[in-house]
Formats: sequence, structure tokens, C-alpha cells
Amino acid sequence: MNKSRKPILDVLGGQIPERVPVWLMRQAGRYLPEYRELRAKSKNFLNMCLTPDLATEITLQPIRRFDMDAAILFADILLVPMALGVDLQFREGEGPALQPVSSMLDLEALFYDPASVAPVMQTIRQVAGQLSPSTTLIGFCGAPWTVACYMIDGNSHSNFAATKKCVYENPEFLERLIAILIDASEQYLSAQIEAGAEALQIFDSWAGLLSGEAFTHYVINPTRILISRLKKKYPHIPIIGFPREAADGYEPYIKQTGIDALGIDQSVDLAYAKRALQSVKPLQGNLSPDLLVQGGAAMLDAAATILRTFGPLHIFNLGHGVVPQTPPEHVAQLVAYIREFRP
Ligand code: CP3
Repeated sequence: MNKSRKPILDVLGGQIPERVPVWLMRQAGRYLPEYRELRAKSKNFLNMCLTPDLATEITLQPIRRFDMDAAILFADILLVPMALGVDLQFREGEGPALQPVSSMLDLEALFYDPASVAPVMQTIRQVAGQLSPSTTLIGFCGAPWTVACYMIDGNSHSNFAATKKCVYENPEFLERLIAILIDASEQYLSAQIEAGAEALQIFDSWAGLLSGEAFTHYVINPTRILISRLKKKYPHIPIIGFPREAADGYEPYIKQTGIDALGIDQSVDLAYAKRALQSVKPLQGNLSPDLLVQGGAAMLDAAATILRTFGPLHIFNLGHGVVPQTPPEHVAQLVAYIREFRP
């Protein structure tokens, strides 16, 4: 197989890339003054996600500034519940608020409406036409479990207590919701691929709330079903899984879900990751977002350790998203360091 001109697709295909690629979760957003400027002029965050010209511009901002190896679509994991008919709002300083679902009757009212996320697909088409030949366009969705957490609790203020209660007291309801989300996510991601997404990431930000059998049942199984359906239709599209804080769940997840690469958060020990996980699939991660805020030698030393540990079959990223207080100069410094790094 010949090397593509895209280092990220090389790594995802198990090929040594020309250089270690880098992109950052939440690379578009409030730490960038050019984002804040557009945000101040815009009605609200959802409106930004659903206005293709704005979303295209925001997707491209970190690419222009830092020449990242991937552009990640500017959108949100909560657009899937929105497309299912759930009322969704992003209130200033409060995070997302959804109308919670609590009964089978609530679930019967959910219908996925592709028209409501059509602007997202338009954004993908617009971005795809503007990337350099080495940049990969990544589409994404939330994993069924993580999206279910937001749909049942309505927000993240009480650490998803209502959702955790369902795991033990109302499994039929939770299973039905997860099934609905598998179907909706399949449609949503298929449309992203048709529009031009070249790789996908499945964000399971709250995977760490579960362990043991519940982790298998609500994290691994739904992800495996979603991936197997996508792979049947689009075998050439690689998929990155990110089951955040999965602890001893990483090994079964990487072996059983069918993902092409595993995103790891900063809690994962590097020696363990290299031995038990990178021996199975390529990894993505896992610099602490706090070290990116810190910058300087602390950040660069940690980056060097990650680069030395994982070698070239690795996508450099953070362990979670860029936080708003991050100085953009630190991102520039990090990317320059990774590009110049020779082990
Ligand atoms: O740059 C990118 O990574 C692309 C866009 C992107 C956003 N959200 C934009 C966004 C992506 C990939 C996401 C994923 C997402 N959204 C996740 C999974 C990753 C994670 O962080 O764990 C989750 C859990 C959400 C849900 C969500 N969206 C929350 C909890 C919040 C509020 C808190 C916060 O982090 O800001 C959002 C809002 C949101 N999504 C913003 C952005 C840029 C901030 C909106 C603003 O300008 O106020």
C-alpha cells in the first residue's frame, strides 16, 4: 500500500506516517480570540453550529493558525438529540440543557429528522473543499451511552445520577434509548461520510461512569454495533474511539469494538498503554489539557515523553479538550515542537 498524503490516515491504516500527526480535541473554541469574536456577534452556540458559513470558518480557524493535521467538524454531540426532536439549549455559562426523557412514551416520540442537521453536512462539504492535501477532515458523534447520559439527566450538574439509576432500576428504558441512539448515530455519521468526512471519532466522554458488566453492555456493545453497521457500508472510513476514563475498560474496548484507533485520556499510564493497548491498535493522545495551559518546559517535557513512548504509529492529541483559558501561543509552541521532534 502506498503512503497517502495524509499522516492521520496513514496512522489509522497502520502505516508509518511521514511525520507524527497532531490535532487537538476542541481545537476550535473559546481559547481563540477569532472564535470569541464570532461568538460575540452570533445569537448563540447552536446557531453557530447550524450556519454553514460560520461553522466552516470556525472549523478552519485552528487549521490556519496552527496547520493541524486534522480539521474536526465544528458541531456538537448534542445535535443528535436535537435531530431526534429533543429541546436543546446552550445557556451562557451553564453548559447544555435538554428536555429530559424519562418514560417509554417519551422515547416513542423521538424521530430522527435528517433535515435538522442538513446544515452540518453542508459545513462538511464546504470545509472539504478548502483543506490542504495533507489535512484530514474528521467527523464525529457522541457515543450512545454518553448522549443517553445528557438525554436522561438533561444536564451534567448532578453527575448523571438519574442515568446511573436507570442502569440498575430501569434497564429496559435505557436499552431502548441506546437502540434509538445507535440508529440515529448511524444515520448521522453516514451522512457525514457522504458529505466528505474522511475519518470519524466517537466521543464517549462519560464511559468512566460505568465498569464491569454495565461497561460491556452500555459502552462496548452499542459502539460495536454502530461501528459494524458503518463498516459494512463504508469499510474504508477509519474510526477513532474515545472512551474517556475507561480505566480497565480500555483493553476490552480496543479489542471488541472494531475501532481503528483508541483515544486515551491523561490518566492512562504510558508504559501500560504502549504494552497493552498500542500492541493492539494505534493510539491517540494523551497530553493533559492543564499542561497546555501551563506551557513551557513542563508541557514540552511531557510531550517528549509521549512522543518517545509511542513512536510514529501515533496521533498526538490531548487527553481531553482544550480548555478556554489556554494561551494560543502554547498551542503554537506545542505543534512546532512535535513537528521538529526527532527521537
Ligand atoms: O473543536 C472541536 O473539537 C469541534 C467541536 C466540538 C464541540 N463539542 C464544540 C463546542 C466537539 C467535538 C464537541 C464534543 C462534545 N460536546 C463533547 C465530547 C467531548 C468532551 O468534551 O468530552 C461533549 C460532552 C459535548 C457537550 C457540550 N458542548 C458541553 C458539555 C458543552 C458546554 C461546556 C463546554 O465545554 O463549553 C458544550 C458547548 C460547546 N461545544 C462549545 C464548543 C466550542 C462551547 C460553546 C461556547 O462558545 O460557549
